[in-house]
Amino acid sequence: MKRQIISELESLKSKNRYRTLSFPNGLDFSSNDYLCLSQNRELKKSFKEGIELFGTGSTASRLIRGHRDVFERTEAIFADWVKSENSLFVANGYAANSGLIDCLSDSRTIIFTDRLNHASILDGIRISGAIKKYYRHRDTGHLAELLRKSDPSAKKIIVSESVFSMDGDICALSDLVKLKREYDATLIIDEAHALGIFGIQGGGISLDENRLDPSLIPEIDFRVFTAGKSLGLEGAFIATTSLSKEYLVNKMRTFIFSTAPIPAIAHTIQTSIALIKKMDPERQILLANAFYLRNALREKEMETLQTESQIIPVVLFDEIKALEKSARLKRDGFDIRAIRPPTVQDSRLRISINSEITRENLDALINVI
Ligand SMILES: Cc1ncc(COP(=O)(O)O)c(C=O)c1O
Repeated sequence: MKRQIISELESLKSKNRYRTLSFPNGLDFSSNDYLCLSQNRELKKSFKEGIELFGTGSTASRLIRGHRDVFERTEAIFADWVKSENSLFVANGYAANSGLIDCLSDSRTIIFTDRLNHASILDGIRISGAIKKYYRHRDTGHLAELLRKSDPSAKKIIVSESVFSMDGDICALSDLVKLKREYDATLIIDEAHALGIFGIQGGGISLDENRLDPSLIPEIDFRVFTAGKSLGLEGAFIATTSLSKEYLVNKMRTFIFSTAPIPAIAHTIQTSIALIKKMDPERQILLANAFYLRNALREKEMETLQTESQIIPVVLFDEIKALEKSARLKRDGFDIRAIRPPTVQDSRLRISINSEITRENLDALINVI
């Protein structure tokens, strides 16, 4: 085994795909703490209060002795925020996506997945043994074609991110809902990078009336939201009906066979939600700043993708170029990470804008990039 480990590490190095851990260094243009809540004073206070109230750990799976009233209250508050009948709180987005997809599928299920969906979605498909059909990124015409050609009697699941994590663009949600109805498929939307930024009170793309008729929200069978990004904490919610929640509690292995999250986190999420609902001005400024930076980079003829979100990829194609550029930016005081295969196909810098970034910060970045 040791020889295999050394050989695989050498192979990664030779392809410039070797990774090392590096601490935050410089102005944050790379985290997913879009509303800067991870350092918020009220949240820290709430977390300490939660520890005093509930202790440090949950001590067991929620189906054993790990269940707490605070989980149920937070699930109800979350569901109300995102206009869902109910929600289930789990350890993180990875466990939510992989566990959800696994427990909904079997080897005869066909899962239609956007080509650029997150690894946690792909791993769920892999674990379940379902049949995977990739459709071209955001191409609902291609999806329709694949659905049309598929076995009409097969169980079908369509899954997409709303805001794509590495490309920053947004799925055609109305079209996905239309197709799911037409082909009687189950629809899963991962709102990890939309929560806090888009939709009414930051509740996600599904709550953006310009993208989806509000009466159609219940057509999205499962919406996955993480608490590790805009909410400034960790954990994840699966927003769904009470009936489906009952099913997940009984069937979802990443929920059943894992210690319940720290109750103080659920407690603190309530504070986070209350704050985020009031952050319309921050959302507007942040998106205006993203628009400003994107335009400035385009004027410099940099290859940014056509995005509308707080995530701006600068595609450089080449691993070494991306690594060198990231290192140079770090020396200039900007924390912008190189993202390389296999995370993405084309190496890039992934720039994310948070609510504390100012126009001066952006101008300084534009000058050196
Ligand atoms: C789109 C998407 N879904 C799910 C996850 C996983 O969420 P978590 O970090 O809470 O495990 C991430 C990122 O980490 C993500 O970008």
